Amino acid sequence: MSAATRISPPAPIPLICANWKMNLSASEAEPYAAALRARLGDRSADLNKAFEVAIAPAHPVLDRLGRALEGSGIALAAQNLHAEESGAFTGEVSLRMLEDLGCHFALIGHSERRQIFGETDAQIAEKAARLAGSAVKPILCVGETLEEREQKRTLEVVERQLGSVLDQVDGLEGAMVVAYEPVWAIGTGRTATPELAQEVHAALRAMLETRWGTVGTQTRILYGGSVKPSNARELLSQPDINGALVGGASLDPEAFAETALACLN
Ligand code: 13P
Repeated sequence: MSAATRISPPAPIPLICANWKMNLSASEAEPYAAALRARLGDRSADLNKAFEVAIAPAHPVLDRLGRALEGSGIALAAQNLHAEESGAFTGEVSLRMLEDLGCHFALIGHSERRQIFGETDAQIAEKAARLAGSAVKPILCVGETLEEREQKRTLEVVERQLGSVLDQVDGLEGAMVVAYEPVWAIGTGRTATPELAQEVHAALRAMLETRWGTVGTQTRILYGGSVKPSNARELLSQPDINGALVGGASLDPEAFAETALACLN
């Protein structure tokens, strides 16, 4: 088949995921969900293939938020989980607990987990292995620090972070989402320029395609780091940016809805 007639796989459906971090309680989640639903309209992912929306609240909020989102098509995501199936791990949360609550996604390897709580690539790979084949899809976060960027080590760092999961874990093909979140852009108001983000996304895409072929082309790579309504459209228009992981701007349902709706333009 000539290049002109080759049919490229369809672009992945963008995913816009809120990461509330340690903000918003269960009682605050209910009015939030009502406001977001009103603003987005109830569009189930089955009915509207334009984009998917997910929210990752703190663990104690998952149940109430899940109930408040019932029938909306907005997915529930967890911010973390433990790699073991069950046991004496005080303060931790298992995959089965997340499945029970109807979680569709779980963040793993967020830079705050790596930096503040000392999570290693090996531990993150174990979490990915726990999620493989389950109903909860991993959103693997990767990203370099300011120092690493200044040392021109960005690609080396993100490729190591993604590679350690791809090397050690089977069965993630078609399920895993990747999120590039440069640490220096998180919560700082500094956003990577769309071109700079695209450069890293293209490198991650190349890795995914080498391992997974067409599935790699269709794997969603989200951008995170000070995404807000005013910059979402430009970021999302980059060819390898397939959605966003939104922190601060997701705490306000209006701002989060506007960020999500930027996918439509
Ligand atoms: P901000 O959008 O607040 O920069 O946070 C990004 C983030 O860490 C999402 O996971």
